[in-house]
Amino acid sequence: MRLFIAIALPDSERERLAALANGLPGARWVNEDNLHLTLRFLGELDGGEAADVDAALSQVSVPGFDLGLEGISHFGEGRKLRALWAGVHPNPALMRLQAKIEQAVIRAGQPPEKRKFKPHVTLARFKSNPGADKLQAYLSEHALFRGKPFVVVGFTLFSSFLSSSGAIYRPEATYPLEPAAQGSG
Ligand code: 2AM
Repeated sequence: MRLFIAIALPDSERERLAALANGLPGARWVNEDNLHLTLRFLGELDGGEAADVDAALSQVSVPGFDLGLEGISHFGEGRKLRALWAGVHPNPALMRLQAKIEQAVIRAGQPPEKRKFKPHVTLARFKSNPGADKLQAYLSEHALFRGKPFVVVGFTLFSSFLSSSGAIYRPEATYPLEPAAQGSG
């Protein structure tokens, strides 16, 4: 099973992000239902490995926290332009959650992630570069993008299947966080 761990986004945030999905030739926009914030990509795991990861994730315990999406940027440049994404307002609680998840995944026997965690919600992947002018115009138009902060109450282990109509993500397990501290939303 191909697995990843992510924060599922509220409907209202997915709608807000889906409204950004136009005006960039060459972009393959992520289906609204599929928008999420990846915490850890696991890749192909067998049943035993998945069960070990699930058990370790069940031990992860941090308080819930507020999360606000903010800003639009991209990975890659020129011919290597890869993805357009929405960023996250600087969020130490999110970084702590991700670090605990990374520890849990390693405890479960998976190899450590080598790449630095850069929280983002992928909005589109590129078949071809829309051209520097169009990309710049899009980025300036949406430079002030800001979501409505929401409370993260848990995280989800998703499986990913490829179908003829694109990726299908299915929640396999959800892991609640502790009740949010008072005043955090
Ligand atoms: P992305 O959004 O930056 O593309 C499901 O495919 C999720 O896992 C996506 O959010 C994707 O991140 C991430 N993902 C897919 N393949 C990956 C890989 N080889 N390494 C790290 N993350 C990956």
